[in-house]
Amino acid sequence: MKAVDFTNKNISVIGLGAMGTALARTMIKNGVRVTVWNRTAEKAKALSGEGAIEASTAKEAIASNPVSIICLSDNHAVRDILYPLEEILRGKTLINLTNGTPEQAREIATWLTAHSVEYLDGGIMAIPPMIGTPQALIFYSGSASAFEKWSDLLGLLGTARYLKEDPGLASLYDISLLIAMYGMFAGFLQAAALARANGVNALELTPLIISWLQAMTQTLPLNAKQIDTGDYELGVVSNLGMQTTAYENLIETCKTSGVSIDLMLPLKMMFERAVANGYSKSDISVIVENILTPAQANK
Ligand SMILES: NC(=O)c1ccc[n+]([C@@H]2O[C@H](COP(=O)([O-])OP(=O)(O)OC[C@H]3O[C@@H](n4cnc5c(N)ncnc54)[C@H](OP(=O)(O)O)[C@@H]3O)[C@@H](O)[C@H]2O)c1
Repeated sequence: MKAVDFTNKNISVIGLGAMGTALARTMIKNGVRVTVWNRTAEKAKALSGEGAIEASTAKEAIASNPVSIICLSDNHAVRDILYPLEEILRGKTLINLTNGTPEQAREIATWLTAHSVEYLDGGIMAIPPMIGTPQALIFYSGSASAFEKWSDLLGLLGTARYLKEDPGLASLYDISLLIAMYGMFAGFLQAAALARANGVNALELTPLIISWLQAMTQTLPLNAKQIDTGDYELGVVSNLGMQTTAYENLIETCKTSGVSIDLMLPLKMMFERAVANGYSKSDISVIVENILTPAQANK
């Protein structure tokens, strides 16, 4: 395959926190001419030593190039920066890699599209050191033509996956994956606290937790099928009645070890409610019904 020459490509990066810096630096290393702006100018100065062109305002940065990436703490900051710049933005492409909600993405997309801007919203499933590697998965949704036009540049940042025109979809995927991640962290933190309370080092337990979690992810495709079909007894090997009884031992062990059960109680309540409603023979996936209908579940 013919190597792409990036030396005639230009882009601006607005926001040079840990993530924006990684995005800008990766493109600079690949020969792209990157114009940068950050609210706190020191971060832009540091990157200019690596070849970035420093703009003195966000307006100047966006005006300099046909496409800009913006990556700030949140979408309130994004709106504060972009909305006063409608004249400068007209005819350009804006790629927003700030974490936000699907509704925020759709609102920003509506505003920008109304001002003749092509908009792509992105969700970064990576931490800064991963940027520039294939492990850095980045979801995009919004303008398909913008994705096609700038896919070479986006491909430098990681694995770029375009979803659909709905600009909120990248954020929806991002948020869903983050929710799954925080479930994992909650479990890890609870297990580590219990171990430490009993004199076992977290470092000793961690390789075992990793291989256990990896083994357990094998059940997820079956659970997903149960959720999609509504058949929660499909292929069940660990019924909820059994799991609810065993979960009580988890709670009891934490209590006698003097560690908090705050992270664990919501799941106990969900389990007990489902069992009381006659779902003891179902798989754990039946809990999704309680999540989907919280009003009913809280009765
Ligand atoms: N770091 C990660 O592991 C990671 C992973 C995936 C996604 N993300 C997402 O990437 C985005 C950036 O994260 P980060 O790690 O780079 O955060 P960060 O290091 O805390 O940097 C935040 C950036 O936002 C800027 N900013 C905040 N409020 C602003 C405002 N009102 N006006 C102008 N600039 C403002 C900051 O400018 P100053 O330098 O002037 O403060 C800085 O450039 C977030 O949405 C985050 O969720 C991060």
